[in-house]
Amino acid sequence: MTRAALSAFLLLAACSATGTSPDSTMDPHSHAEPHRVRVEHVELDLVLDFAARAVRGAVRLDLVRHDPGAPLVLDAQGLAIERVTGADGTERAFRLGAEARGLGGPLTIDLASGERSVRIAYHTTEHADALQWLEPAQTAGGRQPFLFTQGQAVLTRTWIPLQDSPGVRVTYAGRVRAPEGLTVLMSAEQLGVDTEGAFAFRMRRPIPPYLIALACGELSFLPISERSGVWAEPSIVERARAEFEDTESMLRAAEALFGPYRWGRYDLLVLPPSFPFGGMENPVLTFATPTILAGDKSLVSLVAHELAHSWSGNLVTNATWRDFWLNEGFTVYFENRIMERVFGAERALMEMQLERAELLRTLERREPWQHVLHIDLDDRHPDEGFSSIPYTKGALFLQALEHAVGRERFDPFLRRWFDEHAFQSVTSADFRRFLEIELLAGGGLEVDVEEWLTGEGLPADAPDPRSRLLTAVDEAAARWRQERSTGSLRTEAWSTQEWLHFLEAIADSADAASMADLDRRFRLTSSGNAEILCVWLRMSIQHGYAAADAAVERFLTDVGRRKFLEPLYRELAKTEAGLARARQIYARVRGRYHAVSRGTIDEVVGWQG
Ligand code: BES
Ligand code: ZN
Repeated sequence: MTRAALSAFLLLAACSATGTSPDSTMDPHSHAEPHRVRVEHVELDLVLDFAARAVRGAVRLDLVRHDPGAPLVLDAQGLAIERVTGADGTERAFRLGAEARGLGGPLTIDLASGERSVRIAYHTTEHADALQWLEPAQTAGGRQPFLFTQGQAVLTRTWIPLQDSPGVRVTYAGRVRAPEGLTVLMSAEQLGVDTEGAFAFRMRRPIPPYLIALACGELSFLPISERSGVWAEPSIVERARAEFEDTESMLRAAEALFGPYRWGRYDLLVLPPSFPFGGMENPVLTFATPTILAGDKSLVSLVAHELAHSWSGNLVTNATWRDFWLNEGFTVYFENRIMERVFGAERALMEMQLERAELLRTLERREPWQHVLHIDLDDRHPDEGFSSIPYTKGALFLQALEHAVGRERFDPFLRRWFDEHAFQSVTSADFRRFLEIELLAGGGLEVDVEEWLTGEGLPADAPDPRSRLLTAVDEAAARWRQERSTGSLRTEAWSTQEWLHFLEAIADSADAASMADLDRRFRLTSSGNAEILCVWLRMSIQHGYAAADAAVERFLTDVGRRKFLEPLYRELAKTEAGLARARQIYARVRGRYHAVSRGTIDEVVGWQG
């Protein structure tokens, strides 16, 4: 038996003896061997070098040594490792293994007997896919550059050498120097600026490495409540505060549902529009796209979502990316419960109905193996499991359970799930066990757990929320399809959700002439709501509505949010002329997108570099 095989065997034996599941330490997307040597604390000392577009400095890793003879194995991708020293300051030998596609390689460090920490001096390279360095022109202010990180799923290893597995929780501290006039923020408690001008941070609660985050730019802050506020560039921070003024109500709603908020502050950071996601639940500091600043709070379910991750995801974390639905499915369910409490049942119902419709479209497009909640990602990149399936199918599973037992039993059950697994990383098997013992024992329930977790498609009896307002929109859409005129449409009181439902309902039956008619009456090409605009622009491409061409190009230039880019490029790529146009636009703006968005759009347009 090799040493690795032996320790895997010992681990399995130990797990079966203690009754814990071994899969929580076996992450196919990490090279680390945390069952032998585990990182428990990360201490960063960094300089942000905007001129060279590099982060440089050192990280000290504090260790727990289960296997005294074993080396420390870390994940590293595209990092330049300069020097490794042990606890006594002398050099340690290290080896960088070959990089696997998209997962980096192992960084193996020989440890001296009994030592509990190492220090790695390093800098990032142009392959640091977590980082996006923005030119001043890509910011609202236009005067200063900007930098942000995106760690999830496996990108933290591109800017920090560590054990980049969601099953390896760490506390961290950071000391970060940046050019004069810029503010540094991290996903941690702020300790102020020290005598050398370095920004200092500390996260005392153990978090998975994908939640270590940093941003730097010209930023200002406005409070929302005692424990909550918003960071943004000075010219948009007031707008952001107004949009998010219900954040404290959301916090209270969340706490009333599933227990105390355990992270101290909850702040939001509004990033420049190239941010590749809608939101990212970095602890104590949610990162958000400015495309949710619609002016009417119509897109703030994103705040409810990222806030909900403070329980589902950050407090109780998927142990591997196979269990991603535990993060996102729970969060969409929880988000919707928060929306119901703060904005009413009808709003929550509309949002869930729209998401379910999107899920059905996704299920049609994706391959059957991608339909499975407990998805098989061995030999696949975590991104291949990313779609609305873990989100919405996961949420509908929880809704099915809720309907089967009633909220009186389901809510305390979820509360116990969070309390009993707080600050732990958990697998689908852990949830299944908990569910069977705590909720399903005694039998007689109508929910087929096996089918939900391992089946393809959507169970025939899956919840099918129907909003009264959206039913009225269905009737309006049917009338429009018949009359093909806007004359009888009564849209004055329509919310964003009703508009979105209407546009999706007529999308395939419109044509260039009817698009022009809709645009004359409703000015959709100049909509200030990015969700509505995105659907409208997609339809414009689909039907050759040329009056929107310039708006398509502007949108693809200014916005880097993958969820918006992907459908527009996909629609363009459907025709030969469209694909040529997509490639032409993309060649011009690709450099403005984050690596996450580039990865997806490269494939859509067949980018050859
Ligand atoms: N954690 C996700 C974003 C993510 C997932 C990043 C996987 C990288 C890999 C975040 O909470 C999220 O789901 N964001 C959504 C918004 C939400 C309202 C559905 C988004 O960005 O669109
Ligand atoms: Zn999420």
